[in-house]
Amino acid sequence: MGKLKQQYETDGYFGIGILHARNGTNIGTLWRTAYILGASYIFTIDRKYQKQSTDITQTWSRIPLFHYDDFDAFYDNLPRGCQLVGLELTDDSVPISEFVHPPRAVYLLGCENVGLPRKVLDRCHSVVSLPGNFSLNVAVAGSVVAYDRVNKIGGRLPERTDVAPEH
Ligand SMILES: C[S@@+](CC[C@H](N)C(=O)[O-])C[C@H]1O[C@@H](n2cnc3c(N)ncnc32)[C@H](O)[C@@H]1O
Repeated sequence: MGKLKQQYETDGYFGIGILHARNGTNIGTLWRTAYILGASYIFTIDRKYQKQSTDITQTWSRIPLFHYDDFDAFYDNLPRGCQLVGLELTDDSVPISEFVHPPRAVYLLGCENVGLPRKVLDRCHSVVSLPGNFSLNVAVAGSVVAYDRVNKIGGRLPERTDVAPEH
């Protein structure tokens, strides 16, 4: 008997989230972009998500929103075969222009005032920086990396046409 060959629209997926996020407006803005640009899931670490008006797509109701109590719990529960990609402006980060996105990736952003700690950066498979000498807003940084992934991988975005809020 022949093997069943199935065709999928995209290979791989990505999740995106923030460690110790402080500003709810930023989180809502990031969730909205993540949803529209094809994230498969979103997450928070340490601080739980509170409903935000900036997330007009109510992303938490459309794709899974996971919460982890701390970085270790998050790290221990990374999906199988998925690479952890830290976003941070450091001397040894890979410039995004040179970065090849893994098919299965989790993008981790740092909190607004201190960024990602060194002990977290050391556990990432890759650390990527965006252009510029100063840090971008965290939601902007997350949006740029999601766009870069879509642009380079050229994957078709999932059809997400119904954006009327759910209650
Ligand atoms: C506002 S920044 C944190 C800035 C922090 N005060 C610092 O100087 O380290 C918040 C997060 O956005 C992301 N980010 C901002 N600008 C970035 C850049 N140029 N490259 C990569 N990540 C960036 C990082 O994840 C960072 O932890």
